[in-house]
Amino acid sequence: MVRIAVIPGDGISHEIMPEAVKTLETAHELYEFALDYEIFDYGVEHYLKTGSVVPEDIDDIITALPATFDAALFGAGGTDPRVPSGESAQAVLRGLRRGLDLYANVRPCRLLNDDLSPLKGKTSDDIDFVVIRENTEGYESGTGGNFKVGTPLESEIRPEYNTYGGVRRVIEFAFNFAEQQGRKQVAVAEKGLPNGLWSRVFEEVSAQHPAIEPRHVHVDTMAYLMITAPELIDIVVAENRAGDILSDVGGAIQGSRGLAPAGCFNAEKDFAYFEPVHGTAPDIIGQGIANPMAAIMAAKMMLDYKGHLEAADAIERAVRATIASGTVTSDLGGSSSTAQVGEAVRDALQRDAAN
Ligand code: NAI
Ligand code: MG
Repeated sequence: MVRIAVIPGDGISHEIMPEAVKTLETAHELYEFALDYEIFDYGVEHYLKTGSVVPEDIDDIITALPATFDAALFGAGGTDPRVPSGESAQAVLRGLRRGLDLYANVRPCRLLNDDLSPLKGKTSDDIDFVVIRENTEGYESGTGGNFKVGTPLESEIRPEYNTYGGVRRVIEFAFNFAEQQGRKQVAVAEKGLPNGLWSRVFEEVSAQHPAIEPRHVHVDTMAYLMITAPELIDIVVAENRAGDILSDVGGAIQGSRGLAPAGCFNAEKDFAYFEPVHGTAPDIIGQGIANPMAAIMAAKMMLDYKGHLEAADAIERAVRATIASGTVTSDLGGSSSTAQVGEAVRDALQRDAAN
Protein backbone atom coordinates (compact mmCIF):
# COMPACT_ATOMS: atom_id res chain seq x y z
CA MET A 1 0.00 0.00 0.00
CA VAL A 2 1.27 3.44 -0.90
CA ARG A 3 -0.41 6.23 1.06
CA ILE A 4 0.45 9.66 -0.26
CA ALA A 5 -0.26 13.21 0.83
CA VAL A 6 -0.46 15.24 -2.38
CA ILE A 7 0.28 18.91 -1.71
CA PRO A 8 0.38 20.85 -4.98
CA GLY A 9 1.36 24.31 -3.68
CA ASP A 10 1.55 27.44 -5.83
CA GLY A 11 1.94 28.52 -9.43
CA ILE A 12 2.16 25.78 -12.05
CA SER A 13 1.85 23.15 -9.32
CA HIS A 14 -1.89 22.91 -9.95
CA GLU A 15 -1.19 22.20 -13.62
CA ILE A 16 1.59 19.63 -13.30
CA MET A 17 0.61 17.72 -10.16
CA PRO A 18 -2.68 16.33 -11.55
CA GLU A 19 -0.63 14.75 -14.35
CA ALA A 20 1.69 13.11 -11.81
CA VAL A 21 -1.30 11.81 -9.82
CA LYS A 22 -3.07 10.48 -12.93
CA THR A 23 0.16 8.74 -13.96
CA LEU A 24 0.34 7.08 -10.54
CA GLU A 25 -3.26 5.95 -10.94
CA THR A 26 -2.52 4.37 -14.31
CA ALA A 27 0.57 2.65 -12.86
CA HIS A 28 -1.50 1.39 -9.94
CA GLU A 29 -4.05 -0.15 -12.32
CA LEU A 30 -1.37 -1.77 -14.47
CA TYR A 31 0.98 -2.95 -11.75
CA GLU A 32 -1.58 -3.73 -9.06
CA PHE A 33 -0.12 -2.02 -6.04
CA ALA A 34 -2.58 -0.48 -3.60
CA LEU A 35 -2.68 3.30 -3.81
CA ASP A 36 -4.36 5.76 -1.53
CA TYR A 37 -3.93 9.51 -1.59
CA GLU A 38 -5.37 12.69 -0.20
CA ILE A 39 -5.02 16.10 -1.83
CA PHE A 40 -4.25 19.10 0.37
CA ASP A 41 -5.11 22.11 -1.75
CA TYR A 42 -2.72 24.50 -0.03
CA GLY A 43 -1.17 27.41 -1.83
CA VAL A 44 -2.94 29.68 -4.21
CA GLU A 45 -6.11 27.57 -4.44
CA HIS A 46 -6.50 27.72 -0.67
CA TYR A 47 -5.89 31.46 -0.78
CA LEU A 48 -8.56 32.05 -3.39
CA LYS A 49 -11.08 30.12 -1.24
CA THR A 50 -10.11 31.24 2.26
CA GLY A 51 -7.86 34.30 2.01
CA SER A 52 -4.87 32.49 3.43
CA VAL A 53 -2.38 30.33 1.61
CA VAL A 54 -2.05 27.63 4.26
CA PRO A 55 -4.07 26.84 7.41
CA GLU A 56 -2.82 28.49 10.59
CA ASP A 57 -1.77 25.16 12.10
CA ILE A 58 0.22 24.14 9.02
CA ASP A 59 3.27 23.13 11.08
CA ASP A 60 1.19 20.67 13.12
CA ILE A 61 -0.51 19.33 10.00
CA ILE A 62 2.85 18.63 8.35
CA THR A 63 4.33 17.11 11.50
CA ALA A 64 1.36 14.72 11.70
CA LEU A 65 1.65 13.50 8.07
CA PRO A 66 3.92 10.49 8.79
CA ALA A 67 1.27 9.00 11.11
CA THR A 68 -1.12 8.60 8.16
CA PHE A 69 1.01 8.66 5.01
CA ASP A 70 4.12 6.92 3.63
CA ALA A 71 5.19 9.86 1.54
CA ALA A 72 4.23 13.30 0.29
CA LEU A 73 4.27 14.64 -3.24
CA PHE A 74 4.78 18.39 -3.27
CA GLY A 75 4.70 20.80 -6.24
CA ALA A 76 6.41 24.07 -5.38
CA GLY A 77 5.89 27.04 -3.12
CA GLY A 78 6.57 30.58 -4.22
CA THR A 79 5.33 33.72 -5.83
CA ASP A 80 2.04 33.70 -7.63
CA PRO A 81 0.58 36.92 -9.05
CA ARG A 82 -2.87 35.91 -7.72
CA VAL A 83 -1.58 36.28 -4.14
CA PRO A 84 -0.72 39.98 -3.85
CA SER A 85 0.60 39.68 -0.27
CA GLY A 86 3.46 37.54 -1.52
CA GLU A 87 2.46 34.79 0.94
CA SER A 88 3.14 31.33 -0.38
CA ALA A 89 3.19 27.60 0.29
CA GLN A 90 6.87 27.91 1.22
CA ALA A 91 5.62 27.14 4.74
CA VAL A 92 4.81 23.65 3.49
CA LEU A 93 8.33 23.30 2.14
CA ARG A 94 9.87 24.42 5.43
CA GLY A 95 7.63 22.02 7.33
CA LEU A 96 8.54 19.10 5.08
CA ARG A 97 12.25 19.84 5.10
CA ARG A 98 13.05 21.24 8.53
CA GLY A 99 9.90 20.29 10.46
CA LEU A 100 10.14 16.61 9.47
CA ASP A 101 13.94 16.80 9.38
CA LEU A 102 14.18 15.25 5.89
CA TYR A 103 17.80 16.28 5.58
CA ALA A 104 18.98 14.59 2.38
CA ASN A 105 17.57 16.09 -0.81
CA VAL A 106 18.48 13.62 -3.56
CA ARG A 107 18.47 15.10 -7.06
CA PRO A 108 19.33 12.71 -9.88
CA CYS A 109 20.64 14.30 -13.05
CA ARG A 110 20.32 11.97 -16.02
CA LEU A 111 20.02 12.78 -19.67
CA LEU A 112 16.88 10.86 -20.70
CA ASN A 113 17.38 11.34 -24.43
CA ASP A 114 20.59 12.20 -26.31
CA ASP A 115 18.76 14.73 -28.48
CA LEU A 116 18.09 16.85 -25.38
CA SER A 117 21.76 17.32 -24.53
CA PRO A 118 22.74 20.99 -24.57
CA LEU A 119 26.39 19.94 -24.23
CA LYS A 120 28.25 19.30 -27.47
CA GLY A 121 29.17 15.64 -27.84
CA LYS A 122 27.80 14.58 -24.44
CA THR A 123 25.32 11.70 -24.37
CA SER A 124 23.32 9.85 -21.75
CA ASP A 125 26.47 7.81 -21.02
CA ASP A 126 28.15 11.02 -19.88
CA ILE A 127 25.35 12.77 -18.00
CA ASP A 128 24.36 10.56 -15.09
CA PHE A 129 25.09 11.84 -11.60
CA VAL A 130 23.24 12.61 -8.39
CA VAL A 131 23.41 15.77 -6.30
CA ILE A 132 22.65 15.24 -2.61
CA ARG A 133 21.79 18.59 -1.12
CA GLU A 134 21.76 19.13 2.64
CA ASN A 135 18.17 20.16 3.26
CA THR A 136 17.83 21.61 6.77
CA GLU A 137 20.74 23.91 7.57
CA GLY A 138 23.63 25.67 5.81
CA TYR A 139 22.65 28.90 4.15
CA GLU A 140 18.94 27.96 4.25
CA SER A 141 18.81 27.21 7.98
CA GLY A 142 16.46 30.11 8.69
CA THR A 143 18.79 31.49 11.35
CA GLY A 144 19.83 35.14 11.32
CA GLY A 145 17.72 38.15 10.59
CA ASN A 146 17.61 41.89 10.08
CA PHE A 147 18.65 44.61 12.49
CA LYS A 148 17.74 48.35 12.50
CA VAL A 149 15.19 47.61 9.80
CA GLY A 150 14.19 50.56 7.64
CA THR A 151 17.09 52.76 8.70
CA PRO A 152 20.24 53.56 6.71
CA LEU A 153 22.08 51.38 9.21
CA GLU A 154 20.01 48.29 8.51
CA SER A 155 22.06 45.13 8.56
CA GLU A 156 21.25 41.62 7.52
CA ILE A 157 22.86 38.52 8.93
CA ARG A 158 22.22 35.28 7.12
CA PRO A 159 24.83 32.83 8.28
CA GLU A 160 25.81 29.58 6.69
CA TYR A 161 24.87 27.57 9.74
CA ASN A 162 26.40 24.08 9.74
CA THR A 163 26.44 21.64 12.62
CA TYR A 164 28.77 18.68 13.02
CA GLY A 165 25.84 16.25 13.27
CA GLY A 166 24.01 17.84 10.34
CA VAL A 167 27.03 17.70 8.06
CA ARG A 168 27.98 14.20 9.17
CA ARG A 169 24.60 12.59 8.59
CA VAL A 170 24.19 13.94 5.05
CA ILE A 171 27.72 12.88 4.09
CA GLU A 172 27.06 9.44 5.57
CA PHE A 173 23.80 9.34 3.62
CA ALA A 174 25.76 10.12 0.42
CA PHE A 175 28.29 7.31 0.97
CA ASN A 176 25.59 4.79 1.87
CA PHE A 177 23.58 5.88 -1.16
CA ALA A 178 26.67 5.44 -3.37
CA GLU A 179 27.17 1.91 -2.05
CA GLN A 180 23.52 0.95 -2.48
CA GLN A 181 23.44 2.30 -6.03
CA GLY A 182 26.73 0.70 -7.05
CA ARG A 183 28.39 4.08 -7.58
CA LYS A 184 32.15 4.49 -7.39
CA GLN A 185 32.80 8.01 -6.17
CA VAL A 186 31.47 10.65 -3.80
CA ALA A 187 32.60 14.24 -4.22
CA VAL A 188 32.04 16.94 -1.65
CA ALA A 189 31.44 20.28 -3.37
CA GLU A 190 32.15 23.15 -1.00
CA LYS A 191 34.29 26.17 -0.49
CA GLY A 192 34.72 26.48 3.25
CA LEU A 193 37.90 26.95 5.16
CA PRO A 194 40.64 24.53 4.09
CA ASN A 195 40.28 22.71 7.38
CA GLY A 196 36.62 23.60 7.86
CA LEU A 197 33.81 21.41 9.12
CA TRP A 198 32.68 20.00 5.76
CA SER A 199 36.25 19.00 4.77
CA ARG A 200 37.06 17.39 8.10
CA VAL A 201 33.81 15.49 8.38
CA PHE A 202 34.10 14.36 4.76
CA GLU A 203 37.52 12.87 5.48
CA GLU A 204 36.24 11.23 8.63
CA VAL A 205 33.27 9.59 6.90
CA SER A 206 35.11 8.65 3.70
CA ALA A 207 37.71 6.73 5.75
CA GLN A 208 34.88 4.40 6.76
CA HIS A 209 33.92 3.69 3.14
CA PRO A 210 37.18 2.54 1.51
CA ALA A 211 35.41 1.07 -1.52
CA ILE A 212 34.16 4.51 -2.59
CA GLU A 213 36.61 7.03 -4.01
CA PRO A 214 36.37 10.34 -2.10
CA ARG A 215 36.92 13.56 -3.95
CA HIS A 216 37.09 17.15 -2.79
CA VAL A 217 36.05 19.67 -5.45
CA HIS A 218 35.47 23.37 -4.91
CA VAL A 219 31.85 24.20 -5.60
CA ASP A 220 32.67 26.64 -8.42
CA THR A 221 34.87 24.03 -10.07
CA MET A 222 32.06 21.51 -9.68
CA ALA A 223 29.69 23.81 -11.59
CA TYR A 224 32.37 24.09 -14.30
CA LEU A 225 32.90 20.31 -14.41
CA MET A 226 29.19 19.62 -14.74
CA ILE A 227 29.24 21.48 -18.02
CA THR A 228 32.66 20.55 -19.35
CA ALA A 229 33.12 16.99 -18.10
CA PRO A 230 29.93 15.60 -16.49
CA GLU A 231 31.21 12.06 -17.11
CA LEU A 232 33.71 12.58 -14.26
CA ILE A 233 30.91 13.16 -11.73
CA ASP A 234 29.13 10.41 -9.83
CA ILE A 235 27.63 11.44 -6.46
CA VAL A 236 27.94 15.03 -5.22
CA VAL A 237 27.18 16.05 -1.65
CA ALA A 238 26.87 19.73 -0.80
CA GLU A 239 25.64 22.35 1.62
CA ASN A 240 22.02 23.48 1.17
CA ARG A 241 22.42 26.47 -1.13
CA ALA A 242 25.44 25.09 -2.98
CA GLY A 243 23.48 21.90 -3.65
CA ASP A 244 20.50 23.92 -4.84
CA ILE A 245 22.59 25.84 -7.36
CA LEU A 246 24.43 22.74 -8.56
CA SER A 247 21.20 20.82 -9.07
CA ASP A 248 19.90 23.60 -11.30
CA VAL A 249 23.05 23.27 -13.41
CA GLY A 250 22.12 19.60 -13.43
CA GLY A 251 18.60 20.50 -14.57
CA ALA A 252 20.00 22.54 -17.43
CA ILE A 253 22.21 19.76 -18.74
CA GLN A 254 19.29 17.31 -18.65
CA GLY A 255 17.68 19.51 -21.25
CA SER A 256 15.30 21.42 -18.96
CA ARG A 257 14.64 21.91 -15.28
CA GLY A 258 11.14 20.79 -16.22
CA LEU A 259 12.57 17.24 -16.18
CA ALA A 260 14.43 17.23 -12.85
CA PRO A 261 12.90 15.42 -9.84
CA ALA A 262 13.98 15.22 -6.21
CA GLY A 263 13.34 13.05 -3.16
CA CYS A 264 13.95 14.13 0.44
CA PHE A 265 14.89 11.57 3.07
CA ASN A 266 15.96 10.97 6.63
CA ALA A 267 17.76 7.62 7.04
CA GLU A 268 16.03 7.10 10.39
CA LYS A 269 12.49 7.77 9.17
CA ASP A 270 9.87 5.83 7.25
CA PHE A 271 8.57 8.93 5.52
CA ALA A 272 9.98 10.85 2.58
CA TYR A 273 8.72 13.52 0.26
CA PHE A 274 9.15 14.01 -3.47
CA GLU A 275 9.01 17.11 -5.63
CA PRO A 276 10.15 18.62 -8.88
CA VAL A 277 13.38 20.63 -8.54
CA HIS A 278 11.83 23.62 -10.29
CA GLY A 279 9.72 26.37 -8.72
CA THR A 280 6.32 27.91 -9.44
CA ALA A 281 7.30 29.25 -12.89
CA PRO A 282 5.39 32.56 -12.49
CA ASP A 283 6.03 33.51 -16.13
CA ILE A 284 3.94 30.61 -17.49
CA ILE A 285 1.22 30.13 -14.85
CA GLY A 286 -2.19 29.24 -16.27
CA GLN A 287 -0.99 28.78 -19.84
CA GLY A 288 -1.14 24.99 -19.72
CA ILE A 289 2.39 24.70 -21.11
CA ALA A 290 4.37 23.66 -18.02
CA ASN A 291 6.31 20.45 -18.41
CA PRO A 292 4.76 17.83 -16.09
CA MET A 293 7.68 15.39 -16.47
CA ALA A 294 9.65 16.54 -13.40
CA ALA A 295 6.54 15.97 -11.27
CA ILE A 296 5.92 12.60 -12.98
CA MET A 297 9.55 11.58 -12.39
CA ALA A 298 9.18 12.65 -8.74
CA ALA A 299 6.21 10.27 -8.48
CA LYS A 300 8.40 7.61 -10.09
CA MET A 301 11.07 8.20 -7.43
CA MET A 302 8.38 7.74 -4.81
CA LEU A 303 7.46 4.33 -6.21
CA ASP A 304 11.15 3.36 -6.15
CA TYR A 305 11.25 4.39 -2.50
CA LYS A 306 8.21 2.25 -1.70
CA GLY A 307 9.76 -0.74 -3.50
CA HIS A 308 7.45 -0.75 -6.55
CA LEU A 309 10.40 -0.97 -8.89
CA GLU A 310 8.59 -2.52 -11.83
CA ALA A 311 6.03 0.28 -11.94
CA ALA A 312 8.73 2.91 -11.36
CA ASP A 313 10.86 1.60 -14.22
CA ALA A 314 7.81 1.50 -16.47
CA ILE A 315 7.05 5.18 -15.74
CA GLU A 316 10.58 6.13 -16.69
CA ARG A 317 10.35 4.12 -19.93
CA ALA A 318 7.05 5.88 -20.68
CA VAL A 319 8.61 9.31 -20.12
CA ARG A 320 11.55 8.39 -22.36
CA ALA A 321 9.18 7.08 -25.06
CA THR A 322 7.13 10.27 -24.87
CA ILE A 323 10.24 12.43 -25.27
CA ALA A 324 11.36 10.28 -28.21
CA SER A 325 7.92 10.67 -29.84
CA GLY A 326 8.24 14.45 -29.75
CA THR A 327 5.14 15.01 -27.60
CA VAL A 328 6.90 17.55 -25.41
CA THR A 329 6.32 21.02 -24.01
CA SER A 330 8.04 24.15 -25.28
CA ASP A 331 10.91 24.00 -22.76
CA LEU A 332 12.00 20.88 -24.68
CA GLY A 333 11.36 22.45 -28.06
CA GLY A 334 7.89 21.05 -28.60
CA SER A 335 4.41 22.54 -28.81
CA SER A 336 2.36 20.10 -26.72
CA SER A 337 0.39 21.17 -23.69
CA THR A 338 0.86 19.96 -20.11
CA ALA A 339 -2.25 17.79 -20.43
CA GLN A 340 -1.20 16.34 -23.81
CA VAL A 341 2.20 15.35 -22.41
CA GLY A 342 0.59 13.77 -19.34
CA GLU A 343 -1.80 11.81 -21.56
CA ALA A 344 1.04 10.71 -23.85
CA VAL A 345 3.00 9.39 -20.86
CA ARG A 346 -0.03 7.42 -19.66
CA ASP A 347 -0.65 6.04 -23.18
CA ALA A 348 3.00 4.98 -23.36
CA LEU A 349 2.62 3.31 -19.96
CA GLN A 350 -0.39 1.34 -21.24
CA ARG A 351 1.46 0.30 -24.41
CA ASP A 352 4.54 -0.67 -22.43
CA ALA A 353 2.47 -2.95 -20.17
CA ALA A 354 0.70 -4.53 -23.16
CA ASN A 355 4.02 -5.57 -24.73
P1 NAI B 1 11.28 28.47 -11.52
O1 NAI B 1 11.78 27.06 -11.56
O2 NAI B 1 9.92 28.66 -11.01
O3 NAI B 1 11.32 29.10 -13.01
C1 NAI B 1 12.50 29.40 -13.71
C2 NAI B 1 12.28 29.26 -15.22
O4 NAI B 1 12.08 27.88 -15.55
C3 NAI B 1 11.03 30.00 -15.68
O5 NAI B 1 11.26 30.54 -16.96
C4 NAI B 1 10.00 28.89 -15.76
O6 NAI B 1 8.97 29.14 -16.69
C5 NAI B 1 10.83 27.69 -16.15
N1 NAI B 1 10.22 26.45 -15.64
C6 NAI B 1 10.23 26.01 -14.36
N2 NAI B 1 9.54 24.87 -14.27
C7 NAI B 1 9.10 24.57 -15.51
C8 NAI B 1 8.32 23.50 -16.05
N3 NAI B 1 7.85 22.49 -15.30
N4 NAI B 1 8.04 23.53 -17.37
C9 NAI B 1 8.50 24.51 -18.15
N5 NAI B 1 9.24 25.55 -17.70
C10 NAI B 1 9.52 25.58 -16.39
O7 NAI B 1 12.35 29.30 -10.67
P2 NAI B 1 12.32 30.84 -10.19
O8 NAI B 1 11.80 31.70 -11.27
O9 NAI B 1 13.65 31.08 -9.67
O10 NAI B 1 11.32 30.87 -8.97
C11 NAI B 1 9.94 31.17 -9.06
C12 NAI B 1 9.30 30.97 -7.70
O11 NAI B 1 9.37 29.60 -7.33
C13 NAI B 1 9.98 31.77 -6.58
O12 NAI B 1 9.00 32.28 -5.73
C14 NAI B 1 10.83 30.72 -5.88
O13 NAI B 1 11.05 31.03 -4.53
C15 NAI B 1 9.99 29.49 -6.03
N6 NAI B 1 10.74 28.23 -5.99
C16 NAI B 1 10.22 27.22 -5.25
C17 NAI B 1 10.82 25.98 -5.20
C18 NAI B 1 10.20 24.91 -4.41
O14 NAI B 1 9.14 25.08 -3.85
N7 NAI B 1 10.81 23.73 -4.32
C19 NAI B 1 12.07 25.72 -5.97
C20 NAI B 1 12.51 26.85 -6.76
C21 NAI B 1 11.86 28.06 -6.75
MG1 MG C 1 16.30 25.36 -6.58
